Amino acid sequence: MKHIALFASGSGSNAEKIADYVADNTEVKIALILSNNPKAGVIERARRLHIPVLLFDRATFYTTSQITELLLNQGIDLIVLAGFMWLMPADLVRAFPNRIINIHPALLPKFGGKGMYGHFVHEAVAAAGEKESGITIHYVNEHYDEGQIIFQATCPIAQSDTPDDIARSVQALEHMHYPRVVTEVLTPLNPLKP
Ligand code: GRF
Repeated sequence: MKHIALFASGSGSNAEKIADYVADNTEVKIALILSNNPKAGVIERARRLHIPVLLFDRATFYTTSQITELLLNQGIDLIVLAGFMWLMPADLVRAFPNRIINIHPALLPKFGGKGMYGHFVHEAVAAAGEKESGITIHYVNEHYDEGQIIFQATCPIAQSDTPDDIARSVQALEHMHYPRVVTEVLTPLNPLKP
């Protein structure tokens, strides 16, 4: 049995899709959802899905090794970031080499880096007149949006599309692909070709 820890700061729609996808999988389990935001929608979703939640603050995350130790003690195999807004601390990245993945709502390496999250991404994509956007699922290192890319999928952008329209297309791609890619990263029989 492989154990996933999900980190989320927001609504948690991706977290829920992943939980639904693995619900009947006897080889994969969501052990825990961690969040820095007590008001995040993901908390309510986790309660509904009967997944334990751990809330933590900035000081605990960045100045202690409590979270890293807890994840190691729980035998977590993969950390999945699903709308988690804070940079991963160095000790956590070192403790889980190539075992932390993130989804970014654009086609990296464009439209990534500090400040490029949520609606800012889709506004920048629209302002640049891009003909397509998409998703990037990648390994996580100590820098925003820089780890090795695992998977990308694209969606076309019409000239009349607003940032909200782009956000909707990108979210549909996230929900379609992230649960499968998370599972494939964990399943040695079907290794993803980088
Ligand atoms: C997604 O767009 C994801 O790409 C980004 O944050 C958003 C999370 O949405 N990193 P949700 O909380 O899963 O609904």
